[in-house]
Amino acid sequence: MEHIELEAKKEIGSAKNSQELEALRIKYLGRKGRMAELLLQIKDLSNEERAQRGKQINQLKRELEELFEKKKNEIKNSESNKNEKIDVTAPGRALPFGHLHPRTLILRQVEKIFQSLGFSVVDSSEMETDYYNFQALNFPKDHPARDMQDTFYIDDELLLRTQTSPNQVRYMEKHNPPLRVIVPGKVFRRDASDATHESQFYQVEGLMVDKNISIGNFKAVILEFFKQLFGKEVKIRLRPSFFPFTEPSFEPDIQCVFCDGKGCRVCKNTGWIEMAGAGMVHPFVFKSAGYAPYEWQGFAFGFGLDRLAMMKYKIDDLRMLNFGDMRFLRQF
Ligand code: PHE
Repeated sequence: MEHIELEAKKEIGSAKNSQELEALRIKYLGRKGRMAELLLQIKDLSNEERAQRGKQINQLKRELEELFEKKKNEIKNSESNKNEKIDVTAPGRALPFGHLHPRTLILRQVEKIFQSLGFSVVDSSEMETDYYNFQALNFPKDHPARDMQDTFYIDDELLLRTQTSPNQVRYMEKHNPPLRVIVPGKVFRRDASDATHESQFYQVEGLMVDKNISIGNFKAVILEFFKQLFGKEVKIRLRPSFFPFTEPSFEPDIQCVFCDGKGCRVCKNTGWIEMAGAGMVHPFVFKSAGYAPYEWQGFAFGFGLDRLAMMKYKIDDLRMLNFGDMRFLRQF
């Protein structure tokens, strides 16, 4: 038995592959193997001796079985390493690649188009003072027009801006005319959210000031803007409106791109979609900024950026832009 034990351990230890190992397993542990032979030999012993021997043999058998198992795993590991071939011509695995959010995409296009028309892009703050957001723009305290824009106040003086328009005065305070700027950014209103409203959204403020600026200049600029954005001529109309800081005031509508003006759910069957507030800069605003009010003229506009994204990408629910749903976002 000792002889078999030594021999078996040595041979198993030096087996080089799974075939060799299997042959050894049969040699020692097989039905007619060496261990089986040993068990046969003990049948002539006395009862006591047989029990003792039998135990020893079974013990050795278990030991050898464990040894085989261990060696088998060793061999398996080294064989699979050796057999792994690398196909250097196989195409690589594509890594998931992010991309820009539709709102960022549209913002970049808007900036590029206005830059091509001579406008600079200006950054600004999301927190404002009551003065710049309202008073400097001809909304006196208690003016009913403040109700148009339900405001998130931080304290008596500070608020989350309800519009990008405060930057008209901020910019003109620091720069002399003539000028052309756009100011994109986030604005906040206490609105309940639905398919076309959110309490946070993006506007693009525009301001052009020079001598002899008229509504004609405004029309030319935004017609060119829409043409570049949508890649085709778009019909617009200027609907009379009211803002305290423009006179006259109007709201440019574009012909609905979902139905080409025929009338559909998105345009509520009117054929037109509201895109912005706009108007000629009110003399009050020039005065707030320290300009001689009747020496200069200008137009100003505030586009809803999300509205532009809706039209451009034909998204019929504004909230999709904020949900972070990958099934939606992957399409851009
Ligand atoms: N700030 C206005 C709004 O949020 C839009 C506007 C901008 C109107 C510029 C006129 C001129 O509704």
